[in-house]
Amino acid sequence: MTLFDRWTGALADLHEQGRYRSFRLPAGIDFTSNDYLGYSTISRDAESAERSAPLHVATNRSGTSSRLLRGHHAIWDEVESLLADWHGAEAVLMMTSGYNANEGLIATLAEPGDWVAADELSHACIVDGLRLARPRKFLFRHNDLSHLEDGLRNEAAKRPAGREMFIITESLFSMDGDTAPLPEIVSLAERYGAQVIVDEAHSTGCFGSNGSGCVDASRLRDRVLATVHTGGKALALPGAYICGSKLLKEYLVNRCRHLIFTTALPAAIGQWWLERIPNVQTAHGRREMLHRNTKGFRERLADYDIRPPGSHYVVPVIVGQDAPAVRAAEMLQGRGFDVRAIRPPSVPHGSSRLRISIHADHDAAVLAQLADAVAEAVQS
Ligand SMILES: Cc1ncc(COP(=O)(O)O)c(C=O)c1O
Repeated sequence: MTLFDRWTGALADLHEQGRYRSFRLPAGIDFTSNDYLGYSTISRDAESAERSAPLHVATNRSGTSSRLLRGHHAIWDEVESLLADWHGAEAVLMMTSGYNANEGLIATLAEPGDWVAADELSHACIVDGLRLARPRKFLFRHNDLSHLEDGLRNEAAKRPAGREMFIITESLFSMDGDTAPLPEIVSLAERYGAQVIVDEAHSTGCFGSNGSGCVDASRLRDRVLATVHTGGKALALPGAYICGSKLLKEYLVNRCRHLIFTTALPAAIGQWWLERIPNVQTAHGRREMLHRNTKGFRERLADYDIRPPGSHYVVPVIVGQDAPAVRAAEMLQGRGFDVRAIRPPSVPHGSSRLRISIHADHDAAVLAQLADAVAEAVQS
């Protein structure tokens, strides 16, 4: 069998299982992207007006080398300091993507012999960080504190000297739309001497009075080791960042291969961050609309006895098998709603779903029509 035979065989299998993937241009009203606050479509002029502030001219200079070589630019010091103020964190380190940030952080901090407990629904980049780091792993049942505590108790009793324990969770789960019990997780970590890392990819911009995320909203900033935030969701920006101590930042700058061996983001992107952060901090109206739209949509679904898990703007309508989930998504797409089916390996087998992403700028009447159409798609 040649290499090409291997690939064509694998692709044929995916077709047969209904899991073949291909790109599709966006069409219809967006209920798929993570543009929760509606910033991806706003023009820079409109954004400037929103804040009554002039826009600066962006430099076109590209990254072209690692930040540790000539890729560093003063604008990143400014962005990092603005972000650190926003989160009340000692230090912030910009990374090129959330995937890169999670994988790099975990691969750098966890060493073979350390022990890491991660929620079983953790995103692929957390899983891949663990694959690289090769610590001893404990996947706890989703949001199950007693299972997590079993693991901690067991590990703490036999923990080898000099070995660390970490707990990793998302704050708002990307495919399930529910939140982790962060205060309880942090208390357990403190009881057993573990360090906590929280991936705030889907909560950044949307939770807390100034949008800085779930950890800050729960006043846990000083009790966690690090939080990871991406620009790629509600902030609608390229890049991501890690919040933590100055020492953590210094260690990552010296040891994190995902930072050291990759080209820096272009400085022009830093300009976008400088413009967007103050707007997001004060986007109280957008956050209010996001939560109001979510409530209205979920209530309308409940009229049909459809009660997706969680209570937030990621709304998973669980269908079960792959083919009916794909058929339901296609029906909605045919009506002008861009809703996609999420199938394994993104979610566990037998839990294929419609993942509906609610945004601040969705129209209430359109949301009601979508809820009616979802009911028809999954109940007919
Ligand atoms: C929970 C979670 N963490 C991290 C990431 C990766 O972030 P980025 O898209 O910036 O690479 C994603 C993106 O899908 C995510 O859902």
